[in-house]
Amino acid sequence: IALSSSISQSNQFCDAEAGAGAPSSKLLIKGGTVVNAHHQQVADVYIEDGIIVAIKPTITVGDEVTVIDATGKFVMPGGIDPHTHLEFEFMDTVTVDDFFSGQAAALAGGTTMHIDFVIPHKGSLTAGFEAYEMKAKKSCMDYGFHMAVTKWDETVSREMEIMVKEKGINSFKFFMAYKGALMINDELLLEGFKKCKSLGALAMVHAENGDAVDEGQKKMIELGITGPEGHALSRPAVLEAEATARAIRLADFVNTPLYVVHVMSIDAMEEIARARKSGQRVIGEPVASGLVLDESWLWHPDFETAAKYVMSPPIRKRGHDKALQAALSTGILQLVGTDHCAFNSTQKALGIDDFRKIPNGVNGIEERMHVVWDTMVESGQISVKDYVRLTSTECARIFNIYPRKGAILPGSDADIIILNPNSSFEITAKSHHSRLDTNVYEGRRGKGKIEVTIAGGRVVWENNELKVAPGTGRYIKMSPFSYLFDGIEKRDDFYLKSLQAPVKRAKSSS
Ligand code: URP
Ligand code: ZN
Ligand code: ZN
Ligand code: ZN
Repeated sequence: IALSSSISQSNQFCDAEAGAGAPSSKLLIKGGTVVNAHHQQVADVYIEDGIIVAIKPTITVGDEVTVIDATGKFVMPGGIDPHTHLEFEFMDTVTVDDFFSGQAAALAGGTTMHIDFVIPHKGSLTAGFEAYEMKAKKSCMDYGFHMAVTKWDETVSREMEIMVKEKGINSFKFFMAYKGALMINDELLLEGFKKCKSLGALAMVHAENGDAVDEGQKKMIELGITGPEGHALSRPAVLEAEATARAIRLADFVNTPLYVVHVMSIDAMEEIARARKSGQRVIGEPVASGLVLDESWLWHPDFETAAKYVMSPPIRKRGHDKALQAALSTGILQLVGTDHCAFNSTQKALGIDDFRKIPNGVNGIEERMHVVWDTMVESGQISVKDYVRLTSTECARIFNIYPRKGAILPGSDADIIILNPNSSFEITAKSHHSRLDTNVYEGRRGKGKIEVTIAGGRVVWENNELKVAPGTGRYIKMSPFSYLFDGIEKRDDFYLKSLQAPVKRAKSSS
């Protein structure tokens, strides 16, 4: 039963029989180029009950097996988006895409798993987790959770432990911006980093100096700059660089790995490059918008057009995009997210008289895979194997779900896309599957089209048609101590041994 794009836009769910009536649990993908992060070959892929069973040059099967011809196409692990906000209550409103519509959009764009940010409820991690469990009941694809930490006390510290040991969360995000809302101070950051380290959980930061942003915003309003351009002017790249550097140094002090979300500027990227060069374990995540858009949109005379580009940290001047692409291609940055956080034009209009009230966030969950292919692979900046690594495998490794996810290997989940490099895509709000009435990539065309998406062994996107049903997505628990923690204790020991023995001083006699 197909859920056409027009139906999904009017918020109607596919009827439940779609799940039950799933045609065949046996699938054969024939003749494609199967690509993993470190190897590619022309081969057939055989799938049974949602799991990849075999990858071989030629596989013969019986009539009961559904066969998909992938000759001349790339067969790759489905995308994993490490950074999304579905049904997110933020800035006095809530994002339009929930765990069904956002995931349906993702599947239409070749993403088969995402990791969303649980926001604590009144500071309680447990209450926040329970609320997100409810929101995610309508899921139609696999998902995991990160957890934000917005205050500090003994209860929060204990809850972090419960999240890691019982709830399948292995990463915590600290907001260094959004003063008066989600922002935390350095003391909390340090406590949080220490706790993360002890649990083997990855510390993540939204890196902007929130106090300085607040100052910058007041200055803009005093100058009479109230439009969307005030957003960019009030929080320049130097504030992103400062917070990135601070978080990096505090993580170094604690000796725990760090993940910097939405790296938007050359300035922040260079802080990450410096830290990595010195041997520190820092992961940098650029997002699709930062890789291909520029801030000039914020000066657009039409408010609705300008406001849709408001996100934090801001989309920067032309030049930052190209530098972030280069950093991604050379390994300074490791994976691509979206920060999909969809607010429609009515919601964006909350800030018509004051840019500080424009809900922050842009779309991307449906567009990321196409945009990255076109920008990075078609331009020759990265190989197809690199593409798999940056959009899927590295995310799976960092969040410790590899090789169940992020690979086409026997035993891996059958989350697979088929991309036709000779076809093309076009992005418009009219044809996309998100509930958003706008799109920051409106009118963008490019080479490479994801023609088939298979999630958990089921064909969910084919012939430009979605076949999805709420309740079919699974929560993927993620265990602590990913590869980023390998050898961390040895580094601690090394540090302790390198400390000098305490200086013995004779008591003063006089
Ligand atoms: O503008 C943004 N990025 N909105 C989502 C919240 C966040 O900071 O990630
Ligand atoms: Zn249906
Ligand atoms: Zn953020
Ligand atoms: Zn975000």
